Amino acid sequence: MNKREFLGTAAGAGLSLLLGERVWARFAALPVERLAADEAFWSAIRSKYRLKPDYINLESGYYSMQATPVLEAFIAKVREVNYHASYYLRTTQVPDKAAARDKLATLAGCSPSELCITRNTTESIATVVAGFDWRRGDEAVMAEQDYGHMLAQFRLTARRHGIVNKLVSVPADPKSDDEIVQLYAGAISPRTRLLMVSHMINVTGQILPVRRIADMAHERGVDVLVDGAHAFGQFEYTIPQLGCDYYAASLHKWLGCPLGTGILYVRRDKIAGLWPIYGDHRMNDDTDIMKLNHTGTHPVHTDLAIAHAIAFHETIGGQRKEARLRYLQNYWTSKVRPLANVVMNTPADPARSCAIANVGVTGVAPDALARTLLEKYRIWTNAVDNAAAGVHGVRVTPHVFIVPKELDVLVGAIREIARV
Ligand SMILES: Cc1ncc(COP(=O)(O)O)c(C=O)c1O
Repeated sequence: MNKREFLGTAAGAGLSLLLGERVWARFAALPVERLAADEAFWSAIRSKYRLKPDYINLESGYYSMQATPVLEAFIAKVREVNYHASYYLRTTQVPDKAAARDKLATLAGCSPSELCITRNTTESIATVVAGFDWRRGDEAVMAEQDYGHMLAQFRLTARRHGIVNKLVSVPADPKSDDEIVQLYAGAISPRTRLLMVSHMINVTGQILPVRRIADMAHERGVDVLVDGAHAFGQFEYTIPQLGCDYYAASLHKWLGCPLGTGILYVRRDKIAGLWPIYGDHRMNDDTDIMKLNHTGTHPVHTDLAIAHAIAFHETIGGQRKEARLRYLQNYWTSKVRPLANVVMNTPADPARSCAIANVGVTGVAPDALARTLLEKYRIWTNAVDNAAAGVHGVRVTPHVFIVPKELDVLVGAIREIARV
């Protein structure tokens, strides 16, 4: 595609608006991999965020701030909803939310009738696990490395419905996809009905071969629930490509939406089998995914801002974003991985990770490491000290506004700490 053709596309037009046509024209012809290392381009993207000068923010994994254009649109939506008040809620609220859902479905590559907007991954996963038609003695499979509260949801279900949870432990640096698929296969028995798998393990950033796990589980008659909290908006895929039955994600992480936005995907033929958590007097149709989405009166402006976050994401371009995030992670991990006393908890194979990585230093407790990084080097990370998952280190999560010279500060800090 030449420059003129590209500027004619929605993403091209968006970028030229964001950066100015002259600036953008310089980048339009660059292949994604080259653009990933082009600091002029990424500093223009960085200028769209309001960054705190107090520290280098390497903890976007919890919540990644909205870009300024998204935040401004969100604030305008708050004002608008407040101004129109119940008139808005009784007139255009439902079609406006449906339009946001349609845009998300396009991004996810699924039908809008298989997707609903939730508050977060927690709600989406709970909707599936609590709504599943469990029988006493049924089994569920998951991993020690899954997110703690999601495991707790299964423990709760075990207490309430008498199901049995089987946990596998995913190796930190697997040799092949087969190794992981076999691990999950080994935990399945004739009583297994649901398998939960993280698309990306939150504490290490490891991407799991979800499609292969789903195919294996389906051959054994087991449903597959994917926890995609960190995947959606971080790297490129469509949900149907993964072959799962249920998919949950948060939009306030990598898509840069306001806090309190998520998605739940349920494959068409699985909707009827789930019990809604909340009753909804309009929902007589068991096959309508909206039966799972009764939220009462809800801060609709957060949902309305989703369209703006998608526009910003698409303006950068999903492939460009993924390539940049992987570039940033490799930039720092390739420098610290060979160092003595450094323990990398993220696979070396670049295809098994993207933005997130986790690093530990032998003899330094994760809490102390995170504290030293913050107090001495002004770097904000998150300590992970999880014996069950076998992960001891700090999680480092750069977003698109982070630049390599900030990662140089991290590399220098780890070098000094590991030397001592
Ligand atoms: C893997 C994983 N699952 C679920 C969640 C819960 O996400 P939320 O708090 O947005 O519901 C998180 C949060 O970090 C996570 O990392």
